[in-house]
Amino acid sequence: MKVGLIGSGGREHSICQILKKSDKITKIYCFPGNAGTANIGKNIKINLDNFEDLKDFIIKEKIELVVIGPEKPLVDGLVDYLEKFNIKVFGPNKLASQLEGSKIFTKKICKKFNIPTAKFEVFKKKSSTKKFLKASNYPIVIKADNLASGKGVYICYNKKDSLVAVDEIFNGKFGKAKNILIEEFLDGEEMSYFIITDGKSIKNFGTAQDHKRVLDGDKGKNTGGMGAYSPSRLINKELEKKILDKIINPTLKGLSKLGINYKGFLYAGLMIVKNEPHLIEYNIRMGDPECQTIIPKLKTDLVDILLACCDQKLHKINIEWSNKKSLCVVLCSKGYPDIFQKNIQIKNIKKIKLKINEYLFHAGTTKVGSKIYATGGRVLNFVTLAENFLKAKKNIYKNLIKLNWSHGFYRKDIGYKVINQ
Ligand code: AMP
Ligand code: GLY
Repeated sequence: MKVGLIGSGGREHSICQILKKSDKITKIYCFPGNAGTANIGKNIKINLDNFEDLKDFIIKEKIELVVIGPEKPLVDGLVDYLEKFNIKVFGPNKLASQLEGSKIFTKKICKKFNIPTAKFEVFKKKSSTKKFLKASNYPIVIKADNLASGKGVYICYNKKDSLVAVDEIFNGKFGKAKNILIEEFLDGEEMSYFIITDGKSIKNFGTAQDHKRVLDGDKGKNTGGMGAYSPSRLINKELEKKILDKIINPTLKGLSKLGINYKGFLYAGLMIVKNEPHLIEYNIRMGDPECQTIIPKLKTDLVDILLACCDQKLHKINIEWSNKKSLCVVLCSKGYPDIFQKNIQIKNIKKIKLKINEYLFHAGTTKVGSKIYATGGRVLNFVTLAENFLKAKKNIYKNLIKLNWSHGFYRKDIGYKVINQ
């Protein structure tokens, strides 16, 4: 069968590579893809905001399943649009996608269905926000209520910083923000918890810890993610039961009571405080780089899983995983998450000869002839599966040194909480 894959990041390259392993796949079209997906499928340059052109292409090429990687097309309602034309598509619809598209929507769901999360207040005006902040205790968390790729969140340790954050958000640093959210600061350890659901049943899709800050020691600005490891060191049966009973199931049941059926991946960003899970945010997709970290461990055919999900037959599938540890380090362009140079060649990439259990997923790359150029902030993802995290880490850094890309940088301490060395 022919599959269409929407997106251009490391997450999509990893999904593309795993899909390709299935003997059911004849061709994968990537909209628009990157230099990595170009080696597996066919990259199609198309404006993803133009749903009609995309639909025409899908129908013309007889694509039988569409998989959507990133949040924007989901929040914009691409699933609803394609389903109107009887196209099979994997991902949540527009109403369900508000779980990521609007932090305030999610907070209201938490309140209505008693889901543990940080206490919060919503403001529409700069003046009332600042008045509230002057009387608040610190640290405090300030968030823009729109899609900001994880960057519209400020952890403020004093009044001065919080007032700067409010100005930046209302002045449009992360696009138009009608609302601002002020949250209680939760002091705990973060964990990413993933499930896949067809609206009837749910299956675990792995756990991970992401390193969101740009500098070693989890310092500096927030990014899309500098690296991850899976499984999370926090997960155990007791905690998993709490996550399902207190967070995931009440959310899906609550949505269903509101007439919203959720289908797709669901990513719960959690803060674990004294063994109790609290929801920080929902994402309506796999994480990036968590997907690249988790998906190489999948033993079951991904096409079977996604089709079962679209046909509401997920309960019939047994999802199997390797029990190896997985680690991912992201190589970024110097300057990221701020300004960085584009179109720089990655000269030594051919020197990287991948062995079994090693993966190299492209993110912001473009192929011109036989040369690979960096075109994004996050450029390449180095992943290794091994018996332990230390082995995985050593292997990755060996490859990064071999690549020796002087225009890039990467964190040297990914997985430090699970590696003592
Ligand atoms: P978000 O985009 O909502 O996931 O927030 C980005 C990051 O900010 C999270 O991964 C956390 O590290 C941090 N964060 C967000 N909300 C809180 C909170 N209420 N307490 C502590 N840290 C938070
Ligand atoms: N790694 C964080 C995210 O995908 O949102």
